[in-house]
Amino acid sequence: MSVINYKSNQIFPPPPPSGDPTYQYILLKHRVVPGLRKLAVYQKEGGYEGLKKALNDYQPGQVIDLVKQSGLRGRGGAGFPAGTKWSFIPKVGGAKYVCCNADESEPGTFSNHELIENNPHQLIEGILITCYAIGSELGFIYIRGEFARGARVLEEAVKEARAAGLVGKNILGTGFNCEVIVHRGAGAYICGEESALLESLEGKRGFPRLRPPFPAIAGLYARPTVINNSETLCNVPHILRHGPEWYANYGTEKTKGFRLYCLSGHVERPGNYELPCGTTFRKLIYDLAGGVWKGRKLKALIPGGSSTPFLAATDEVLDTPMDFEGIAARGSMQGSAGVIVFDDQTCIVGAVLRLVEFYKDESCGKCTPCREGTQWLVQILHRLEHGEGRPGDLELLLNVGSNIAGKSFCLLGDSAPVPIESALKLFREEFEYHIHQGRCMVGPGANRPVTIGAAH
Ligand SMILES: Cc1cc2nc3c(=O)[nH]c(=O)nc-3n(C[C@H](O)[C@H](O)[C@H](O)COP(=O)(O)O)c2cc1C
Repeated sequence: MSVINYKSNQIFPPPPPSGDPTYQYILLKHRVVPGLRKLAVYQKEGGYEGLKKALNDYQPGQVIDLVKQSGLRGRGGAGFPAGTKWSFIPKVGGAKYVCCNADESEPGTFSNHELIENNPHQLIEGILITCYAIGSELGFIYIRGEFARGARVLEEAVKEARAAGLVGKNILGTGFNCEVIVHRGAGAYICGEESALLESLEGKRGFPRLRPPFPAIAGLYARPTVINNSETLCNVPHILRHGPEWYANYGTEKTKGFRLYCLSGHVERPGNYELPCGTTFRKLIYDLAGGVWKGRKLKALIPGGSSTPFLAATDEVLDTPMDFEGIAARGSMQGSAGVIVFDDQTCIVGAVLRLVEFYKDESCGKCTPCREGTQWLVQILHRLEHGEGRPGDLELLLNVGSNIAGKSFCLLGDSAPVPIESALKLFREEFEYHIHQGRCMVGPGANRPVTIGAAH
């Protein structure tokens, strides 16, 4: 059973099986060190040592080189190498910014949430080091509107850090000046997309921007800007403190380090699992999380948040290393590492409807294909789910999807048809069953009376 701590509004898996050498807490150290949220405890555990090292031992460009050597890749979805991204920032003077993306709205993803609420100084330290590396004196944390508690925790931590001379003027007596500002969004998925995030941070409506120019050249207030996910930035202090070789020791050839896999759905012990990149699905779901709930069988999984294609539960998939390359080789994506588990009683049509409804609700409305197309997808799926599917609906779904993906202004539109296309590839017979029988093929819906719909 998972332990649900309602007071802190989090789901923690119980401690890992003892004696498992691959399971350790680095980013999630707060689980074994009580009070890590407080500066004094964080410092006692070696906190801000990475910042000290960066400021005292390295030039900014050397910090970028260290992060490049570590192999750290972005945790927000695309996996872009962090050091390379930072190196795109022009070396000229003038304002530059670091924006931490703490919007975390992708269904199935909740690692930033836990990191922020429990170890805010780890993130602040990562932001300060990044600012130093690119020559910035101002970092922003753009936090999702619903994360009220996280925002309060961060504000409190910034205050504490400022009082201790870790944020503000002449940090640690080194002459480095840097402010950190916590900015709450209003709760929109699109504001996790980096250019919409910048618009929102500037006080405008959260619409994506046309690119180029890219944020490294013209980002926040048209100045060079680095945008990184919170988890990406939380890795940075550890890389500085222990060195890039130590970090690169974890993980696989092309995906280094450790990752927070957010495990949810029909599994015994959901929660965040901190594991070396490239751990297999089998190890995560069966060895660590106790397997599929209620003794049922695994039907499918989504490996990296709702924007990544379904994978069917085969031995081959279960033994796939969870890194960017391994999952791509199976036809899906690592994405945000939000692993969603579906048991064999899941009606895939209902699951897909629920996922696509999310994209319809969250479409920002800026471009027609996404605004109109996501509504059509939901209409068709809704009638399929309710026994009113028509012959030709599956082709229509694919047709509408292909007129959204690649034709929308940003990647939100590309993501909307993903669950449909992948589910149709793997479980087409369930969609056909809905059309011809008017009800689900599996699960509780399989026993309900046949609905006489438009097609019957
Ligand atoms: C619709 C949409 C939503 C996104 N939401 C998030 C998010 O909540 N958090 C995040 O870090 N990246 C999100 N991204 C990716 C960001 O645009 C960006 O690539 C990322 O913040 C870069 O950080 P990284 O290099 O550390 O991964 C989203 C992208 C899209 C298209």
